[in-house]
Amino acid sequence: MADGAVIRTVADVMSTPGVTALPSDLISEASVRMLARAVGSVVVVDDENRPIGIFTERDLIRFNGSGGNPSITRVADWMTPAPDTCGPDEPAGKAFARLSERGYRHIPVITDGKLVGLVSMRDLMRVASIEPVSHPGHIEAPKGLAGVIVAETEVGDVRGQEGFYHYRQYSAIDLAEQCTLEDVWYLMFEGTLPTSAQRAEFLDRVRPYAAVPESVKPLLPAVAAIGDEFVPLDALRSSVSLVAAAIGCRPSLDIDAAALRSDAERICAVIPTLIMALYRLRNGLEPIDPHPELGYAANYLYMLTGEVPDPDLARGVEQYQITTIDHGFNASTFTARVITSTGADLGAAVVGGIGALSGPLHGGAPSRALDMLDAIGTPDHADAWVRDAVESGDRIMGFGHRVYKTDDPRSVLLKSVAQRLGGPMADFAVQVEKTVVDVLAELKPGRELYANVEFYAGVVMDRCGLPRDLFTPTFASSRVIGWCANILEQAADNRIIRPSARYVGPQPPQPLPARD
Ligand SMILES: CC(C)(COP(=O)(O)OP(=O)(O)OC[C@H]1O[C@@H](n2cnc3c(N)ncnc32)[C@H](O)[C@@H]1OP(=O)(O)O)[C@@H](O)C(=O)NCCC(=O)NCCS
Repeated sequence: MADGAVIRTVADVMSTPGVTALPSDLISEASVRMLARAVGSVVVVDDENRPIGIFTERDLIRFNGSGGNPSITRVADWMTPAPDTCGPDEPAGKAFARLSERGYRHIPVITDGKLVGLVSMRDLMRVASIEPVSHPGHIEAPKGLAGVIVAETEVGDVRGQEGFYHYRQYSAIDLAEQCTLEDVWYLMFEGTLPTSAQRAEFLDRVRPYAAVPESVKPLLPAVAAIGDEFVPLDALRSSVSLVAAAIGCRPSLDIDAAALRSDAERICAVIPTLIMALYRLRNGLEPIDPHPELGYAANYLYMLTGEVPDPDLARGVEQYQITTIDHGFNASTFTARVITSTGADLGAAVVGGIGALSGPLHGGAPSRALDMLDAIGTPDHADAWVRDAVESGDRIMGFGHRVYKTDDPRSVLLKSVAQRLGGPMADFAVQVEKTVVDVLAELKPGRELYANVEFYAGVVMDRCGLPRDLFTPTFASSRVIGWCANILEQAADNRIIRPSARYVGPQPPQPLPARD
C-alpha cells in the first residue's frame, strides 16, 4: 500500500437502507420495486430484517426464460439463498475482491446479522483501494516475451540451435542461392514458387507499382530536407504514410484479401524507389525513376546512380535482400501484426514495422561492423584490437546472436557472397572474423559467439556500392516483403492482439489532491 493511501470502507459507499423483499412477495412486486428504485437486486429478508436471500436481475432473467407467471410466483422460489454478506467497516477493496472472485454484483451489508444496506460492484469500484485480483487463466509471460509462442504462422521460422531458417517450406539460404528476389516475394505472398507464367504475370502487375504516385512526388523534397541530420528510415516512414494515403489503403477490416494483397504489392514495390529518391534528394540530386527492365535489386542500385549496375553486384545486393526478407517473429514483424490485428490499413502496419526496425537493438547497424574493420586497419592489428576491446568490456560488432548459438546461416551465405565479389575488404573481413572468433572463444569461453548477419552484410553492401547510410534502409527494402506476408496472414485469420499487464504503481483510486 502506498504511503498515505486512504482506506475507504463499505460504509462509505453502501446504499442504505437496501431495497428489500419478503420471501412471500410476488416476483411482479419485487421487479416493480427494483425498477422504481433503479436497483439491480433486492435483498430478501425475514421478519427480523435478517437477509435470507438475494433476488437479482439475473434471477429475473432466468425466471422470464422459464416462462413462469410473475403474478403468482413467489420471490422465495427464484432467489439465491444464503447470500454472502459483509460488514460496514470492511475495507472496500476487500469487499471488491470478494465480489469479483465469486462473480457477485451485490452484497448485503449487515450488522449483528441485520440488514443495514447493500453494496454493489459499481459503488465499490468508485472508491475501493482495489487489490489486484488474480485473473484466472492469465499467464505470466517472461520479460520481452522470450520463448513465448503468440501465433501460428505458415510464413517461416528460425531454428537457432540448428543454424537454420526457412521461408514457407524452403530453406531461406537455398532460396537466396538459387532464386530471384521476385520469386521469393511471390513465394512469401502465395505460399508457392511461381511457374514461369505466374512469374510473368506477377512481374507485369508489380512493375508499375514501383513508381512513386504523382501526388506524392512533389512532397518528397520537403520530407528529405527535414531535420539537421538525415535519418533515412525516418524519411522513409513519413513517405510510406503519404503513399498509403495516395493509393487509398483502407482498413484491412473493410477490404477483402485480394484488395489487401494489392496494397501489399504496391507498398513493397515502391519502398526501394522511395529510399533512393529520398537519399538523392537529400544529397541535392534529382530522383531517378525505376528502370522498367531491371529487377528489384538491380533497380535499387540503378536508382542510386542512374547507371545499369554490374550484374554480379546487383546479384550480391539481391542475395542480401533475400536473406533479410523474414526472420521468425522478430520485433518489427510482431509490430506489423499487432497493428493489422486492430483492422488498421496496411500502410499503418508497414510504417509501424519501419519504426520498430529503426531501433538499434533490431535493425542494428551493419555499418558498425564496417566501422570496426576501419578501426582495426590491418590484419596484424586484429588480435590486439579485439583483445583490448573485449577486456575493456566492449562488444565486438557483428558477433553473437540471441537465437543462433552456432554459425548464423545468413553470415555463412553473405561470407560466400563477399568472397565471390572479392575485393580487399572481403579478404580482410575473413581474417578478422577468424581472429574475433578465436579471441572470443578464449576470453568468453562457452558463450558460442560467431559472426552474425551484420558482419558480412556491411562488407557485401559496401562492395556493391551502397553508402553506409543506406545499409539499414536496404534491410527495410526487403524486410517489407516479410512484414506484408505476415500482415496478409494476420488479416486472413484475425483476432485483435491485446495482452494484459500487471499494474504495479501506487494503489488506486486515491482521492484527487486539493487544487488551488
Ligand atoms: C547480438 C547480441 C545482442 C545477443 O545478445 P545476448 O544473446 O543477449 O547475449 P548476452 O548479452 O547475454 O551475452 C552473453 C555473453 O557473451 C558476451 N558477448 C555477446 N556478444 C558479444 C560480442 N559481440 N562481443 C563480446 N562479447 C559478447 C557477453 O559479454 C556475455 O558475456 P558474460 O557472460 O561474460 O557477461 C550480442 O551478441 C551483441 O551485443 N552483439 C554485438 C552487437 C551486434 O552484432 N548486433 C547485431 C545482432 S544481429
